[in-house]
Amino acid sequence: MFKIVKREEMAGGTVILNEIDAPRIAAKARPGQFLILKANEDGERIPLTMAETDPVKGTVTVIYMVVGKSTELFSRLQVGDSFQNVIGPLGQPTHIEGGKNVVCVGGGTGVAVLHPIARGMKDAGCKVTSIIGARNKDLLILEDKMRQASHDLHVCTDDGSHGRKGFVTEVLRELLEQGGIDQVVAIGPVPMMKFVSLLTKEFGVPTLVSLNPIMIDGTGMCGGCRVSVGGETKFGCVDGPEFDGHKVDFDELILRLQAYTEQEKLSRHLCKC
Ligand code: FES
Repeated sequence: MFKIVKREEMAGGTVILNEIDAPRIAAKARPGQFLILKANEDGERIPLTMAETDPVKGTVTVIYMVVGKSTELFSRLQVGDSFQNVIGPLGQPTHIEGGKNVVCVGGGTGVAVLHPIARGMKDAGCKVTSIIGARNKDLLILEDKMRQASHDLHVCTDDGSHGRKGFVTEVLRELLEQGGIDQVVAIGPVPMMKFVSLLTKEFGVPTLVSLNPIMIDGTGMCGGCRVSVGGETKFGCVDGPEFDGHKVDFDELILRLQAYTEQEKLSRHLCKC
């Protein structure tokens, strides 16, 4: 069993942080890799990218938005409770190359996934400029941590309640127009990653995105996590989760993510477990 040793609520309780005792995973995990978690025997397998790992304490941290039946079940677990299964580290770690001028763009809970990557790039000697955004001030997470992980941080909210009013893509366009950017990393809602990738394509700047397709086994066996990248079928779990944003078919990914919306609604209606 994988005991929760720390639990925090963010964004008015809609986003939960769980630090979990998992020493063998913590010893091997690297930025960009993910876990598959299951709350109990009947629970659904949910993939979450790690926000933090501490090999000394032997813990891994995940941060997730409470959006469906399974994340609701996760959110009810308190310190001292355990996940029945935590599998990982899964997927390919982020390829970090020092000396680059990088812009890291994060939206929503994607900021939690972006943070260790931005920090890893800064530690490797990259110049890291970050842009983080959310719908409003209450939904913005990890601003202080992203400030520490970056040389320069821009904050945006859709309603202007904190930082600049507008979308992350508006700040990104201004930075791209100034030139000199070697790479962009974008992690957040699929539409955000799509529009960041369309924008960086205009400027010819390589762009990495971290995808969140539906996953079941997480080991390349079921094909549930299929994504089209450059006209080829890739598996998010073993080939990703990070891909070249200029080659991803985001519209297909959006459709595939909606495939079980009706079943999700029915499941929540039929069973309150
Ligand atoms: Fe089954 Fe990727 S989750 S192949």
